Amino acid sequence: MGSEDGGTMCTFKIRNATNGDIPAINGLFKGEYGLGYPYLMTHLPADQINLVAERSGRIVGFARAAPYGVYAHVWELCSLVVESDARKLGIARAFTVERIERLRRMGVKTLVSEAVTCYEDCASQRNLHNFGFKPYGLLPFVHPWIRPEVLGDQPLSLLLMVANLNGGTGFGSRELFLERGDMDALTLITEPGTLVPPWQARISTNIDPLVKNGKLVHGIRGADFVDIPLNHLSAIEHRHSLRAQGYRFAALLPGFTRDTSEPLDFLRVYRPPRYDLTFDLVHVTPNLEPLKHYCQEEFITP
Ligand SMILES: CC(C)(COP(=O)(O)OP(=O)(O)OC[C@H]1O[C@@H](n2cnc3c(N)ncnc32)[C@H](O)[C@@H]1OP(=O)(O)O)[C@@H](O)C(=O)NCCC(=O)NCCS
Repeated sequence: MGSEDGGTMCTFKIRNATNGDIPAINGLFKGEYGLGYPYLMTHLPADQINLVAERSGRIVGFARAAPYGVYAHVWELCSLVVESDARKLGIARAFTVERIERLRRMGVKTLVSEAVTCYEDCASQRNLHNFGFKPYGLLPFVHPWIRPEVLGDQPLSLLLMVANLNGGTGFGSRELFLERGDMDALTLITEPGTLVPPWQARISTNIDPLVKNGKLVHGIRGADFVDIPLNHLSAIEHRHSLRAQGYRFAALLPGFTRDTSEPLDFLRVYRPPRYDLTFDLVHVTPNLEPLKHYCQEEFITP
């Protein structure tokens, strides 16, 4: 792959990463996010997808795909980084094409990606949008100590984006037990008609919400998150109780797990680690300003 640029060949090659590439990969992360970057690679799991981009014999980009935590049938496109002097050559695009192609061949149906919001150009969000990823919410103040020269001690926020390789919305016609406020937030991001009754009268078993405590990095804490299963009446009760504990709307996870064979949906809520944080450092593409505004308002007046 490559192009001519002012007489200089801008070719690059995408290949599987090996453990021998790890120092170069970590060099990319440290160069981009700061020397104290907390998520350096120690090994490359063989059952996941790990790709590097090489240009003139040097590693200039890295990208992964891995199962999304406990939601094992959902795969995450993650860890994308391209060295600054190798950008705008189509490397991120090529990584994304390759990862999606491989996941499609593996039979994966749902993809997720958590796009960074710390760059005004929103390049990562735009790249995902090109591949049919749609926004499903914000994950405010998740990762402490990313780009501290820009964010200071404010943890990085992410935009949660989802793509369905079978072309659906991911929600089917399952009934969602959502409070009014969360439903308002959802209508800011879903296309009209995505969540219109009549619902399919099928109520899943009662599953406990999944709690993820905030990360602690270099003494700075990130937000706590809870995923509430949404296809059971108990969702409303759980939401009330979590709201009283300071949890706010973050995102929807459509069809992220399966109850026997039925897909289940989740509401992800977050509790900020502190209140001296600002959405002014959260950059999203213009179409997502209403969502950001909603989250900002809820943050200021819970
Ligand atoms: C985001 C990043 C990986 C893009 O890498 P890249 O190889 O330069 O991207 P590509 O040339 O393949 O461009 C792919 C798409 O990304 C978007 N994009 C890339 N650079 C952009 C920019 N400066 N401004 C706006 N959009 C941009 C565009 O949608 C582009 O598609 P298009 O050219 O058809 O419009 C790179 O800028 C980077 O490493 N940034 C810092 C780390 C980061 O944000 N990683 C993503 C973590 S979620």
